[in-house]
Amino acid sequence: MTIPFIDLKTQIARVRDDLDRRMAAVVEHGQFILGPEVKALESELAGFSGRSRAIGVSSGSDALLLALMALGVGPGDAVLVPAFTFVAPAEMAVLLGATPVFVDVDPVTFNMDPASAEQAVSELKKRPELRLKAIIAVDLFGVPADFQRLTTLAKEARVVLIEDAAQSFGAERFGRKSCSFGDISCTSFFPAKPLGCLGDGGMCFTDDEEIEAKIRSLLFHGCGEIRYEHVRIGVNGRLDTLQAAALQAKMTIFPDEIEKRNLVADRYRELLAGVKDLIAPQPPEGCTSVWAQYCVLSRDAAHRKALFAALDKEGVPHAIHYPMPLHQQPAYKQYADGPGQFPVSESLCERIFALPMHPYLKEEDQARIAQALKNA
Ligand SMILES: Cc1ncc(COP(=O)(O)O)c(C=O)c1O
Repeated sequence: MTIPFIDLKTQIARVRDDLDRRMAAVVEHGQFILGPEVKALESELAGFSGRSRAIGVSSGSDALLLALMALGVGPGDAVLVPAFTFVAPAEMAVLLGATPVFVDVDPVTFNMDPASAEQAVSELKKRPELRLKAIIAVDLFGVPADFQRLTTLAKEARVVLIEDAAQSFGAERFGRKSCSFGDISCTSFFPAKPLGCLGDGGMCFTDDEEIEAKIRSLLFHGCGEIRYEHVRIGVNGRLDTLQAAALQAKMTIFPDEIEKRNLVADRYRELLAGVKDLIAPQPPEGCTSVWAQYCVLSRDAAHRKALFAALDKEGVPHAIHYPMPLHQQPAYKQYADGPGQFPVSESLCERIFALPMHPYLKEEDQARIAQALKNA
């Protein structure tokens, strides 16, 4: 039997009655746009993550776009982004006419390397045509980035720090929750995320009243105080009421799911200890991951290929997050020097791969996965 890579069916079955009841209530009251469930979810998730303000938006990508728009990012501005991540942070900067400046990542956490970020900040001083405006640190695969050092760096450089928490909602770093770091945090409720809705959705978090007001205006076509008054150029970036209702249902089991994900990760760690030349992930001291992906490292590209053949033979699904660093992507290479510029990101792309990960992964399936890897 094939093992599911993620298992949303089991999750949905757990909350199905509550989900149906909440969705039916929305259909009944009919406030499909910015209905009461959106407000209720915003205050629930603000409280959960330890922020004073949360704004529901249409996706994780739009959360980043709205954050950058609220900060007035545009042509002539530079935005630091990791070279090894999902494309959205760089993409949103470019959409606004800004220049993404790539930064290498840490070989253990896979998150933005503060030393590489410091270097990028000092190199930017030699480029007077660019003004550094923001740093976007991604909490990759569910582990918060090194916000101690990155906050210091952002303060010293007098720029804004954005936490891309699309993969880390619910994670912790030294007792602080994901979505509480930086000036603005952005998350995604894409269905496969640790907290996912039934389509697209996202949220921005901040403690700044002015930023909140700007994002609320921007996501509704730049609306002002009066109906059909538009005080700025905006977009349609609202979170649907039905998606908010679905998220409220999923939140009832989310803390339990985080615990289950961590049990699965602990079991993987034990089982994979016996696989030669395979490095299992370990969140850094003081961090709890939500394991959006369970990514391991092979020795090199040939080793990864051999491991994939062994997994395929056993019907074990696998995926590569990510096969190409952003500075080598056809659409982004114009913003970088070329291969060799970010050696850690380049090496990770050749060696990394993800194994099945979800809260309902059975012990015997994990044993089968580990055995398949050992057989290789
Ligand atoms: C790091 C990161 N940022 C942003 C996004 C974009 O989120 P969405 O798919 O909700 O637009 C994702 C989605 O995979 C992501 O992984």
